[in-house]
Amino acid sequence: MDYQAVLSEVWDAVRPVLGQGRVATYIPALAAVDPHRFGMALATVEGDVYGVGDWREPFSIQSISKVFTLALTLARDGDALWRRVGKEPSGNPFNSLVQLEYEQGIPRNPFINAGALVITDRLQRLTGDARGTLRDFLRAESGNPLVDFDPVIAASEAAHGHRNSALAHFMASYGNMECAVPEVLEHYFWQCSLAMSCADLARACGFLARHGQRADGARLLTRSQAKQVNAVMLTCGTYDAAGEFAYRVGLPGKSGVGGGIIAVIPNRCGLCVWSPGLDARGNSVAGVEALDRFTTLTGLSIF
Ligand code: DON
Repeated sequence: MDYQAVLSEVWDAVRPVLGQGRVATYIPALAAVDPHRFGMALATVEGDVYGVGDWREPFSIQSISKVFTLALTLARDGDALWRRVGKEPSGNPFNSLVQLEYEQGIPRNPFINAGALVITDRLQRLTGDARGTLRDFLRAESGNPLVDFDPVIAASEAAHGHRNSALAHFMASYGNMECAVPEVLEHYFWQCSLAMSCADLARACGFLARHGQRADGARLLTRSQAKQVNAVMLTCGTYDAAGEFAYRVGLPGKSGVGGGIIAVIPNRCGLCVWSPGLDARGNSVAGVEALDRFTTLTGLSIF
């Protein structure tokens, strides 16, 4: 298949929606990004990379980081992890507090903020440096040694992090935090601040297309664990829009409020699209449209 031609066709098709949606403002440093930006990249399991638009431009990965912290923790902890976090869609916004009280401090899944805080807590306990472990992994998988945190974004989120702070303290009150809450929040804010391009992220999610095998051939996850991560992405990766995303795109995917979305086509490739205008549920408007067009044009959904 001529991936470069397909990506160009997708880019043409999404032009009418570029600039639609609203850039995230609840982390003030994210508000400075131009909503008209658009990039998309595809990295095959063999290592070839194709891209259009701003596909080499780094952006804030935000919640996309949660896929990688989940994989790193699952690799070390196995099924024990699922005692502290569920794997069901939440049907609620990513930063919702209400469900946590009904469910005694056990978050619905690892991709809502509460669940991601539990995962970061566990990774911090297991490694002593959750954010550094994540950065080193992403440098290796993307093949880009320059992947790094954005201290301005991390500081901005910390300064406006009352809701995440509330979630973490609330879980601590149920005994579902092993490390000190401020330590977990710091690592979480830094992990979300990582700046990566579509090319970096399309490569970095390749291990999920290779059934758990890393870029250098070493195994991170068992085949079954890679299936589990992909399944949780499909059902929970775009929060209360996961049904709509599965319906339109038909691939495991994970969004971030920086406007990025990664998606995985098992056996074939990793995809990443970036456009900062978000819909009401925090997913990139042009990003979802581009992935919808891509799977419609190519027939490459998992269904
Ligand atoms: O914790 C937060 O609110 C952000 N650092 C990440 C949220 C996010 O990306 C949700 N995704 N659509």
